[in-house]
Amino acid sequence: MSKSQPESWHPASWKDKPVSQQINYGDKEALLKAIEQLSQLPPLVSAVEVDNLKSQIALAQEGKHFILQGGDCAESFSDCNADSISQKVRLLVNLSLILSHKLNKPITRIGRIAGQYAKPRSQLMETKLDESFPSYRGDLVNHIHFSESARTPDPQRMLQGYSYASLTLNYIRAMLETDLSELFQLDDEAKALQNLKQAKQLHQSILQFQQMAQMFHNINGSQPVTKGLKEFYTSHEALHLHYEEALTRKNSNGDWYNLSTHYPWVGMRTASTNSAHIEYLRGIANPVAIKVGPQMEPQQLVSLCQAINPNNEAGRLTLIHRFGYKDIAQKLPLLIQAIQAVDLKVLWCCDPMHGNGRLTNQGIKTRDFEHIQSELSQAIDIHLEQGSILGGLHLEMTAEAVMECTGSSYQVSESELSQAYTSLVDPRLNISQVFELIDSLDTSIQNSLQIERLIP
Ligand code: PEP
Ligand code: CO
Repeated sequence: MSKSQPESWHPASWKDKPVSQQINYGDKEALLKAIEQLSQLPPLVSAVEVDNLKSQIALAQEGKHFILQGGDCAESFSDCNADSISQKVRLLVNLSLILSHKLNKPITRIGRIAGQYAKPRSQLMETKLDESFPSYRGDLVNHIHFSESARTPDPQRMLQGYSYASLTLNYIRAMLETDLSELFQLDDEAKALQNLKQAKQLHQSILQFQQMAQMFHNINGSQPVTKGLKEFYTSHEALHLHYEEALTRKNSNGDWYNLSTHYPWVGMRTASTNSAHIEYLRGIANPVAIKVGPQMEPQQLVSLCQAINPNNEAGRLTLIHRFGYKDIAQKLPLLIQAIQAVDLKVLWCCDPMHGNGRLTNQGIKTRDFEHIQSELSQAIDIHLEQGSILGGLHLEMTAEAVMECTGSSYQVSESELSQAYTSLVDPRLNISQVFELIDSLDTSIQNSLQIERLIP
């Protein structure tokens, strides 16, 4: 047997377990036909790339690398165009350079991109006035428009999603092979954001970040911090298991990889012990992540980790914690202690977004910048106190000129949210807000992140 294929696992063994967030297709034959077609199509990424990422995650577990994972809550098919893809890549590259300078270690860039098309929902139905239809479940499943036909799951969307993911990835690879200096441009994005609110200082301050990023690259271009600038990895929530299964392929060693993405994660709503989603993750050789929320009990987390990573392989498992700024201090230490007690190798990654959602009086989903910042800085302190390593940051962010999260120096008020809100699901930080968040990682935080000077 291959090294990573556990006994009694096969790519469809998840079907024997309870599937939460199940998508109900009316036309089962159309579903089977779409899956069959998908399973004939070529993979989107290679097992070698996936293994490279796993070794970088292993380094991040030791504090020698840092993982920056970010992008949209939900990608949309209509965003599959050159400008939008380029914006997303440039944002991650610029942020990663600032971060590599702050932390003094190489940053691995991972987009929520090229396949982040399926969404779990707390409410599976949505009601407006006296009509109820299935909730929007991501472009891989149905359409955002509120009507019966738009919200009916359509299996053909899986084939479209595969194609859009492939076009996106192809363009990212092309971008990273051209003039790298173009990657530092964020001028248009800064201007658009400034125009949105006539914020006087904003354009300049974003440009300063951009120039800093370019300078760090020029200074360190040949050094480990930035020499991997051409490396870029993709990730998405492995929610739609029919899709994930169809893109799960065996390599020549007999190991199964999910080759629709480098780094699949399982969301908080589907990460219960013995669930179909955990069963699926158990057998693939990719580095995988699970989202950990306030309901997770220490022993349950330990069992999940042991189920997914029975050999305690380095780089294999990431725990993305997302508690909310009010709960993190109470919940995180116990989980860290439980993992330490049995000496499990995990990458701890902080998602300061998903525990901090709230609805405004107008019913708009938002997050306060100050809550996001508070959860992140508490996470850093807690890991320091517990003697563990925070090795990654997971963000929902965009370089589009939006106002989706309130607060920050950009001073977004609740009443402004409806003016520039394009996210299909959760609110994202805009560039001003995300640079401010990264910039707030000050010197004391650098110390707590256990910096090792990698550059001589
Ligand atoms: C997400 O990452 O968009 C998401 C739904 O996260 P979680 O599973 O942590 O709620
Ligand atoms: Co989200």
